[in-house]
Formats: sequence, C-alpha cells, structure tokens
Amino acid sequence: MPRIIVTGGSGKAGQVVINELLQAGHSVLNLDLLPSSNPAITTLKTDLTDAGQVFSALSGQFAFSEPFPPGLPPKPDAIIHLAGYSRNMIAPDTETFRVNTTSTYNVIEAACKLGIRKIIIASSVTVYGVTYANGNIDYPSFPIDEEIDVNPTDTYAIAKLCGERVARGFASRFNADIYVFRIGRVVDPDEYDSEMFRSYVNEPAKWKVHGWSYTDSRDLGRMCDSAIKKDGLGFQVFNATNDTITNFGNTMAFLKEVCPRVPFTREMGEVEAPLTNRKMKDLLGFVEEHPWKRYYKTS
Ligand SMILES: NC(=O)c1ccc[n+]([C@@H]2O[C@H](COP(=O)([O-])OP(=O)(O)OC[C@H]3O[C@@H](n4cnc5c(N)ncnc54)[C@H](O)[C@@H]3O)[C@@H](O)[C@H]2O)c1
Repeated sequence: MPRIIVTGGSGKAGQVVINELLQAGHSVLNLDLLPSSNPAITTLKTDLTDAGQVFSALSGQFAFSEPFPPGLPPKPDAIIHLAGYSRNMIAPDTETFRVNTTSTYNVIEAACKLGIRKIIIASSVTVYGVTYANGNIDYPSFPIDEEIDVNPTDTYAIAKLCGERVARGFASRFNADIYVFRIGRVVDPDEYDSEMFRSYVNEPAKWKVHGWSYTDSRDLGRMCDSAIKKDGLGFQVFNATNDTITNFGNTMAFLKEVCPRVPFTREMGEVEAPLTNRKMKDLLGFVEEHPWKRYYKTS
C-alpha cells in the first residue's frame, strides 16, 4: 500500500484530500499543528517551519503501533504539501511570508535529501496576480495557463511563487518529480449551495478575482492521486482546477464581454474554465468527477 505524507491534512482541503487518498487505497500520515477531525488519521503535531521537526517526521514511523515494526521505517512514496496560511490577512504579511516559504523549503529539502521521489506542492492561482492586486487589473491573456509569465504583487502569492522556484531548483538538483499545483478557490461539497457559488453564477462579472474557475476539494484529492501515479515528469506546474467556467455563459463570449482588451492565445472550449486545467488532463490523465452543475440548484 503506497505511503503518502500529507501536510496540512487537518485543514479545509487536506481533510477531503486525505479521504480521497484513503479511498484510492493509499495509507496516509498527516503532519499538522492541529489534530485532524478524523480520528482514523494519524496526525503528527509538526511545526513545518522547524527543519529539524520536518526531517524527523519524514524519516520516522508512519503509524502508531505497539510495538513498532522491526528495522528502520520504510520511506514514504510521496509527500503532498498543503500546510500554511491559505490567503493574505490571516497573519501579518511578514508572518505569512515566513511560514509559507520556510515550510515549503523545509519540506522540499528534507524530502529530496531523504530520497522521497514524488513531491506535490500546493501553490495557488493567485500567482497570476489578479486576486490580490491593488485594484482591478486584467489577466495578460486567455486561457490563463501555465505558460503565462507570473508577476504577483501581494505577499501570499509571492510566497507561493518562491515555493515554486525552490521546487524547480530542487527537482533539477535531485532529479526528483516535483509537481506544483496552482489550486483555484477550493469548493467543498456543501459550498455549491453557498452565497459565494450563487454569486459566481448570478453575478459573474464580480468574479475575475477567482478567474471564473474553482477546484472541487474531492477532485483535488483525485488530482493528487493522478500525480502520485504518474512518474518521470520532473518539475511541472499544473493549474489544479475543474473543467468548466463557473457560470452559464459561453467561455469566449463571456470573457470578450468582461475583459474586452485581453487577447486569446488559442480557441477555448465552449464552457472551458478560464484557468484551464488542460495540462493536468493531458499529462496526468485527470478526469473530473465533480462538475459544479451536478450539485448547483437553480431554483
Ligand atoms: N482554500 C483555498 O481556496 C485555496 C486556494 C488555493 C490554494 N490553496 C492552498 O491549499 C493549501 C490548503 O488550503 P486550505 O484551504 O486547506 O487551508 P487551511 O487553512 O484550511 O489549512 C491549512 C492547514 O495548515 C496547517 N498549518 C499551518 N501552518 C503550519 C505549520 N507551520 N506547520 C504545520 N501545519 C501548519 C494548519 O493547521 C491547517 O490545518 C494551502 O497551501 C493554500 O494556500 C487554498
């Protein structure tokens, strides 16, 4: 059974991601400051900003038992790093930057040096620079894909970008597979009935900040599973989003209306998400299971 370490597994995305990994047949160890709401999950209370704790946790026992199995604990097969501040304004900018960059650096360095061959890092679509810009700015082009040069100005997204650069350098130095997931706004199953999702649909002009795209938390878990199963791609950046735009418009017609000055670099699918996941589908073979229209109630 593949052994997967998840960091931040007690958080919003992490809890659902872990459920999906368990359903896919993996065994999971959670590293987090907080306990998991799922008592079946072993959570090691780990401060990932402390490199010693990270090295110890990544090379230690995988589960609690009495006695422990004989010999040295086997190496985990993969690590999925989700922990950190999940947006600006939870902590002062200096703290967001310190925690997010240090924890990502520590996880990547320890995993590479311990010979863990697959590392998945949570980045964010905020690196495209629009979400936390000072004021209303446009995306450089549509679709918003991984080829776009990213120049965010806010602390959270800059810290994510720093993590992406560490990933790139270490993947090359250690010949490891490090896949960066630029995650969209995470939507839990009960959020399809939320005020926010209703506004996505009914007031779409407001939602440039989320790129008129989303990430179902269960599908995020399945994206992680696809990444675990696909070896040999080295360093890669993927938009980790669902397939379709978050309103009932035709994608190109809608984008031309709300962003008339932004050019297109290719023809887009009729309802393709502006933050396109085409690369994730092509390279990792990801197939969406939770399209929003299946859950959204129109009346
Ligand atoms: N929620 C979203 O919409 C969204 C969108 C894009 C990207 N992301 C990214 O996805 C990841 C998960 O997001 P989330 O919404 O589940 O966040 P969350 O805040 O719900 O969970 C984060 C978890 O990380 C843990 N953590 C924080 N600092 C830690 C430390 N120093 N050591 C160990 N654990 C620590 C927290 O205790 C928490 O359980 C984050 O990296 C976030 O930036 C989230």
